[in-house]
Amino acid sequence: MSEQIQKRIRALEKELDHHNYLYYVADAPIISDREFDELMKELENLEKEYPQYRDSNSPTQRVGGEVIRSFRTVLHRIPMQSLSNSYSREEIDEFIARIEKQTGVFPEFTSELKYDGVAISIIYEGGVFSRAVTRGNGVEGDDVSANVRTIRSLPLKLQGENHPSVLEIRGEIILSRRAFERLNQKMRELGEAPYANPRNTASGTLKMQDSSVVAERKLECMFYHVLGNTDLPDSHSARFEMLREWGFRVPDLAENRISVSRSTDEIMEFIDYWAQTRFELDFDIDGIVIKVNSERLRQEIGATAKSPRWAIAYKYQAEQAETRLNSITFQVGRTGAITPVAELEPVLLAGTTVKRASLFNADYIEELDLRPKDLVIVEKGGEIIPKVTGVNIEQRVQSSVAFEYINACPDCGTDLIRKEGEAVHYCPNEVECPPQVIGRIQHFVSKKAMNIENLGDEKVERFYELGLIRDIADIYDLTHAKLQGLDGFKEKSINKLLQGIESSKSVSFARVLFALGIRHVGEVVAQRLVEAFQNIDQLMGASIEELESTPEIGSVIARSLNSYFARSENVERIKALKNKGLNFEVEVRVNSESQVLESKTFVVSGVFEKFERDELKEIIAKHGGKVVASVSGNTDYLLTGSKVGPSKLAKAEKLGIELLSEEEFIKMAGL
Ligand code: IVH
Repeated sequence: MSEQIQKRIRALEKELDHHNYLYYVADAPIISDREFDELMKELENLEKEYPQYRDSNSPTQRVGGEVIRSFRTVLHRIPMQSLSNSYSREEIDEFIARIEKQTGVFPEFTSELKYDGVAISIIYEGGVFSRAVTRGNGVEGDDVSANVRTIRSLPLKLQGENHPSVLEIRGEIILSRRAFERLNQKMRELGEAPYANPRNTASGTLKMQDSSVVAERKLECMFYHVLGNTDLPDSHSARFEMLREWGFRVPDLAENRISVSRSTDEIMEFIDYWAQTRFELDFDIDGIVIKVNSERLRQEIGATAKSPRWAIAYKYQAEQAETRLNSITFQVGRTGAITPVAELEPVLLAGTTVKRASLFNADYIEELDLRPKDLVIVEKGGEIIPKVTGVNIEQRVQSSVAFEYINACPDCGTDLIRKEGEAVHYCPNEVECPPQVIGRIQHFVSKKAMNIENLGDEKVERFYELGLIRDIADIYDLTHAKLQGLDGFKEKSINKLLQGIESSKSVSFARVLFALGIRHVGEVVAQRLVEAFQNIDQLMGASIEELESTPEIGSVIARSLNSYFARSENVERIKALKNKGLNFEVEVRVNSESQVLESKTFVVSGVFEKFERDELKEIIAKHGGKVVASVSGNTDYLLTGSKVGPSKLAKAEKLGIELLSEEEFIKMAGL
């Protein structure tokens, strides 16, 4: 019996590994997500019942779960060096000439992308993943295996045969722009300060203690180096092909992600191609790396103490401009988070005029040693928002002194606070600080929350200033008489607004809870809370321990809820909203099958296998979703069959709208 179970566990591991590979590496899945989940569930259950047979590299480990208190320091078998940089054709010529002189031949070179991420060394022993270590100081780094295991495109067991007993590959952990944007969107919805760039976020993510959070972030790994072992092919490019057979995703010749060249012209062609094309990639690169292809020759050429002599980086210049820093202003967000902003003398950068740039927080300003009236360097990298990356010290006014960060809120004058371990300052005056109040109201009426039409951000601001809306609950006291005579408000728009306010009363409890803008309570958390607590009284009465025992609710969220409900003005507000008729309990719906697609907008296009297009539209409506005819910024998903409309597809891709297959939709709707 036990033998059979063990056999089944091994078979499931193998099957799931294979499907993982087909999905994440080969991009050619052959089973549905649902079938995959069912196999995974079976394996999870068996592992739970028979933990003695659980493999540390089982596919179930991809979702994380291990919580690491502190990372173990590990010595690298071979130090992790860095690269010397170059910026011109002449420097590449010199690099090649030096090698030619030393070896007496003109060798083959490979050129590949220089990924802008975090260096990692990954070791496989006997064909299975054994550990992943960060670069650290180059000699020793941190063991981040639990977090790296969550990277789906990374094989935990090698496919094929003839694996060396020890295989070390090095690469770069990155976060795609899409994953980065998704994460920041979430931060913004929570009213939190967004992350600065994908590289820092990847680096921070790799050092997180809870690997299940890492799994959600969707890190990726790009490989660039296979370490010496006499059994391996001699050339770098052939080693990559070997890796491909073992189940790795490696740069593709066909996509021009790597090239093998025998002349400076060919190398420069590759460099120029990516200088133009790099912004079309879904991740950041900061240059090209040129390497001698043959491992044997590399050994002969050797290295300096800092970097190999057989490789050189060609660095792309970020689009930069120099301009005067006129002043620093401070923005107060909905949660009271303070963001310093550089107000600049307008300057042209990569085709647009830049007047402002984010300075993120006090530490960033301190690191730059920014001073009033400095000449600063602004850069536009992969991100859309420009940033200040340096100061022209030579041009600095001698008498200037470092900036003193504000210690009182620029809007309400309250003393700012900075929690231990956090870089951001906060204004604690939640109740009266105008931008916090206005921000809360704007969040409350927004599309994903109460979805009150005809009450955009500017109108909220105006109504606040006019004293018409001073708190969320005041929205429901607006009347025809109060709005009449206001600039830009005619009969029709007044009616539309009042109508929108009225229909918001039927918005579900989960969305009302999200709309309140409690710190750390995003859409998903709100949903989990209403699943566990049927109405607001139960939720308000819950202790921190009870909250924490709810799925997906950790101590940060529990404490945030607890302190929100401890404030009398919040309790009063909820009472007032309840009296106005808003939903504060889970509704049992009669007319629809579920509300799983509530507030989601779909465009349906193409020919489907299991359902007719109209059937799909009906299903969406029955589950609380909305179907519209054309793709716009308000669309959440493009549900695609075969023969999907090309213009719809192009528009969706341009706007970054998620594409859903029929299978994925079926799963989402719980059919
Ligand atoms: S080769 C022994 N190739 O850039 C030299 N490095 O600035 C191994 N990097 O330490 C490095 N993309 O972290 C190499 N295609 C690539 C790379 C790459 C990014 C990183 C790597 C390296 C750093 C040097």
